[in-house]
Amino acid sequence: MAPFLLVLACAPLALASITVVDPSDYADLTADASDNALQVDYTTDNGGPSDLIYKITGPFYYADEDAEVSHQTLSVDANDTSVLVATDGAVVNVSYTDVVKDGYLTWLNQASFFGVNAAINVANASTAYIDHSNITVHNGAANVYSYGTGSTVYVSHTDLYSSGPVSHGLYASGNGTIYGSNLRHYSGGNRCSSFSGDNPAGYIHVTDAVAHTAGIGSAIFYTLGASYGTDVVGRAEKAPSLFSDGAQTSVFENVDFTAGLLAGTVMFSSSTRSSGASLTFSNSRLTTLGEDMAALWFGNLIASATLHATELNTTSGILVIANASQITQSFDHFVGWEENSSIQPAQVSVSVIESTLTGDIVAYNGSSIAWSLAEYSSWTGAASVGRGTAYLGVALDATSTWTLTKNVYLQNFTNADTTNSNIRSQGYSIYYNASSSSNAWLKSTNTSLPGGGRLQSY
Ligand SMILES: *[C@@H]1O[C@H](CO)[C@@H](O)[C@H](O)[C@H]1NC(C)=O
Ligand SMILES: *[C@@H]1O[C@H](CO)[C@@H](O)[C@H](O)[C@H]1NC(C)=O
Ligand SMILES: *[C@@H]1O[C@H](CO)[C@@H](O)[C@H](O)[C@H]1NC(C)=O
Ligand SMILES: *[C@@H]1O[C@H](CO)[C@@H](O)[C@H](O)[C@H]1NC(C)=O
Ligand SMILES: *[C@@H]1O[C@H](CO)[C@@H](O)[C@H](O)[C@H]1NC(C)=O
Ligand SMILES: *[C@@H]1O[C@H](CO)[C@@H](O)[C@H](O)[C@H]1NC(C)=O
Ligand SMILES: *[C@@H]1O[C@H](CO)[C@@H](O)[C@H](O)[C@H]1NC(C)=O
Ligand SMILES: *[C@@H]1O[C@H](CO)[C@@H](O)[C@H](O)[C@H]1NC(C)=O
Ligand SMILES: *[C@@H]1O[C@H](CO)[C@@H](O)[C@H](O)[C@H]1NC(C)=O
Ligand SMILES: *[C@@H]1O[C@H](CO)[C@@H](O)[C@H](O)[C@H]1NC(C)=O
Ligand SMILES: *[C@@H]1O[C@H](CO)[C@@H](O)[C@H](O)[C@H]1NC(C)=O
Ligand SMILES: *[C@@H]1O[C@H](CO)[C@@H](O)[C@H](O)[C@H]1NC(C)=O
Repeated sequence: MAPFLLVLACAPLALASITVVDPSDYADLTADASDNALQVDYTTDNGGPSDLIYKITGPFYYADEDAEVSHQTLSVDANDTSVLVATDGAVVNVSYTDVVKDGYLTWLNQASFFGVNAAINVANASTAYIDHSNITVHNGAANVYSYGTGSTVYVSHTDLYSSGPVSHGLYASGNGTIYGSNLRHYSGGNRCSSFSGDNPAGYIHVTDAVAHTAGIGSAIFYTLGASYGTDVVGRAEKAPSLFSDGAQTSVFENVDFTAGLLAGTVMFSSSTRSSGASLTFSNSRLTTLGEDMAALWFGNLIASATLHATELNTTSGILVIANASQITQSFDHFVGWEENSSIQPAQVSVSVIESTLTGDIVAYNGSSIAWSLAEYSSWTGAASVGRGTAYLGVALDATSTWTLTKNVYLQNFTNADTTNSNIRSQGYSIYYNASSSSNAWLKSTNTSLPGGGRLQSY
């Protein structure tokens, strides 16, 4: 695979093309093609037992002891087995080492919730420091797994490569934590996010990384718990850059993400709609390639997002979608009320600061988007309803501007510039709901806007 090209996100004056290398540039992808075609069948076996049924073990096993491994090659070829396990308060250091894992996982839930089959499994209040190493897996396995309260992995200057399904790069659950820096990641299979948490929560901190995923369901970050990414270049060929399930926190700074399927970010609740999910992008760029892909997508969730000095580059011209919808375990399409009447609308507030954005915000079927522009932001686009009745609110501070591209119907409209001189209507009108208390300040105004459109109630 040829190296992919990107443009530096945070160099406003000197844009430069740079070639970024990830492990797919030197791995033998042809040899791994059949591995990458493997699927985990979630629907028929429902993932298998959700309590741990294996003893997590491997040829390099450290329980309640300190150990140091350097300049070695460690490997195993066995199903449901790790290469290296640190458990029960162990502290293990791995430097300048090649870790190679072959062998299949039997049950999705065992791998997901406990790290069965992970190349390196750090569990039960253990610590690992991993540096200058290569961790390669085939047949489907996490590269590095952290499990349990008090388990922490520090991994730096390391390459993570995988083929096969459910092979996340860094994977934390049971409240485990991973700090990664100076990493290069590639996964070829499906459901293989670069940096992932799982139930009940995993905490992932990544700085200075390149991440590249090829498969469906393989995001750059999958947040269940909290994800923090700083200085990360990520390309998800057949997935969003982020999946976030439930009331989770995702914070990205100085990142440049490109997404190829569904949306730039997909935030939802896989069970009952939760409230309190949050997403932040600062000094970043998010690009979506598909013609129907929004930059930010929300369903069955109450969430807030902040975009600070961030670019959204969409092929679709859609910045935000809020929908009464959901993604399923196939991770390749949205489904909602057609399949499950419990799926609820999304309620989203997005705060845009110091950003210039072009595109629409679209709410479907009972959903709402409250869109606010502040601190010298400017927006060219419209607010619209995708289906049914939905609610759209736009708020501007006096330093921000809005250029309309269609007539809009708003549940709420607030403008700190009461003369509306920060609006470029281009002949389009803003219609506001006269019954909404947020519009009381308009006192049923019916007036013209700069550029020939009108501000009036509906
Ligand atoms: C972690 O502790 C749990 C609970 O005692 C135990 O079932 C599990 O086998 C331990 N994991 C490892 C990797 O030792
Ligand atoms: C492991 O690495 C840490 C951090 O560099 C260091 O503090 C610790 O002494 C090392 N332990 C061993 C057993 O080498
Ligand atoms: C890891 O892989 C890279 C790229 O092939 C290589 O340059 C480096 O020497 C490898 N490191 C180890 C510890 O094997
Ligand atoms: C390992 O798993 C693979 C794929 O499920 C299976 O074909 C193979 O028989 C298993 N090997 C052993 C030793 O159980
Ligand atoms: C995770 O944290 C929760 C809340 O503190 C706790 O109840 C649970 O036992 C923890 N899980 C593990 C595997 O440590
Ligand atoms: C239907 O959606 C609800 C709410 O998201 C969820 O809890 C439930 O598991 C879903 N049912 C099925 C059969 O997927
Ligand atoms: C937007 O993304 C496309 C596809 O990657 C790219 O060709 C284009 O140059 C980008 N535009 C901007 C303004 O960055
Ligand atoms: C909106 O939700 C409906 C119902 O789940 C779904 O069919 C449709 O694909 C969704 N569209 C978008 C753009 O989210
Ligand atoms: C909207 O979603 C509800 C479920 O939340 C569903 O019953 C209804 O059919 C949907 N209607 C439209 C027009 O999308
Ligand atoms: C409209 O304003 C009300 C009252 O402040 C708020 O509760 C609601 O979420 C807002 N809706 C939108 C779409 O902005
Ligand atoms: C207008 O706002 C009122 C009060 O919030 C609400 O009950 C009504 O459904 C809104 N009308 C439309 C058409 O959205
Ligand atoms: C607002 O004023 C315009 C232009 O005078 C007029 O066409 C329109 O009917 C008025 N709308 C309302 C709600 O009064």
